[in-house]
Amino acid sequence: MGRRKGSSNNNKKSSNSSTTENSSPPNHLQVTADEDVEEISNLDNSTCDPTDDVIGSDKTSADYYFDSYSHFGIHEEMLKDTVRTKTYQNVIYQNKFLFKDKIVLDVGAGTGILSLFCAKAGAKHVYAVECSLMADMAKEIVQTNGFSDVITVLKGKVEEIELPVSHVDIIISEWMGYFLLFENMLNTVLYARDKWLINDGIVLPDKASLYLTAIEDAEYKDDKIEFWDNVYGFNMSCIKKQSMMEPLVDTVDQNQIVTNCQLLKTMDISKMAPGDASFTAPFKLVAERNDYIHALVAYFDVSFTKCHKITGFSTGPRSRTTHWKQTVLYLEDVLTICEGEAVVGNMTVAPSKNNPRDVDIMLKYSLNGQHCSVSRIQHYKMR
Ligand SMILES: C[S@@+](CC[C@H](N)C(=O)[O-])C[C@H]1O[C@@H](n2cnc3c(N)ncnc32)[C@H](O)[C@@H]1O
Repeated sequence: MGRRKGSSNNNKKSSNSSTTENSSPPNHLQVTADEDVEEISNLDNSTCDPTDDVIGSDKTSADYYFDSYSHFGIHEEMLKDTVRTKTYQNVIYQNKFLFKDKIVLDVGAGTGILSLFCAKAGAKHVYAVECSLMADMAKEIVQTNGFSDVITVLKGKVEEIELPVSHVDIIISEWMGYFLLFENMLNTVLYARDKWLINDGIVLPDKASLYLTAIEDAEYKDDKIEFWDNVYGFNMSCIKKQSMMEPLVDTVDQNQIVTNCQLLKTMDISKMAPGDASFTAPFKLVAERNDYIHALVAYFDVSFTKCHKITGFSTGPRSRTTHWKQTVLYLEDVLTICEGEAVVGNMTVAPSKNNPRDVDIMLKYSLNGQHCSVSRIQHYKMR
């Protein structure tokens, strides 16, 4: 079996970026008040003061969510994900006819990279909306690169800002979270679509599909789940229950795949209603060899079907790794499966009632095989 590279149960895109909780500079940059000592600091007080929006101990998870996007680290990770960023760049630069003289809305602009691509491709005007403190950087980046006449950065939530125009021709956004729907930014795109997009306007990307497959993963399941049964001789299995419930965002080796890959759901971003992001989808995963199944794995594809030639990318285990990796859902049972036998069931996906940025997943599965007969329901929570 293959072993995955790295692991994280922290389902934030910001897993390794710091938040604005700690607003004091790192020790080696400590600014001194001693007048005799020349102040040498690379802290720029004029922009992006992380204390501006800190709400003290009353922060909600939504505050933490937006805070995470205020730090450059998460944007660095996204920009360096070349599968992601180059696909958007190619879509824009290779389809200039779509953008020429058009009004574009960039939903969740971050550093403004997609707005810059659109401006360079000939858009008449781009409105770049970003609610985190990164909006200040985006303004500076737009100015530094000479696009101030074409790109207007608006700092605020899409749901709260006022656009200077009543309609836009194109909405572009990179809204996808882990397991596609974690972070629930899709709703923001749909809100913008319904409020500002002209009738025959374009949403980029316009299709997103969620897939499921099954993997052999004995070694890693042992390391992440069974580990809690005996920790230096102590039983910590109460944590095991929690770790089973949290899908693991990680890279799966394609050699671990035991079954076919099943399409669960395709969403048409240009037409769907917000409620369509909650669904129950059946699956049938047929074993391609005799093996053991320890987990189901979900991943997504996105596509831009309005391009001259359909373009897109996949976050699947057989494709080049992206920062979304794959999402691993460990099973309570180890399924001993023979070639040709099938794990059948359905998956229910919905935003969590307590925090709509989290995702609740219910998995019903059964296998009636030669060596294994199992039927079970498992609940997971991406948070
Ligand atoms: C996945 S990042 C993409 C950033 C940038 N477009 C890129 O491709 O590099 C999504 C961005 O959307 C912003 N965002 C999320 N929800 C938003 C909302 N409701 N209003 C405005 N910005 C939002 C986040 O702060 C984050 O910077």
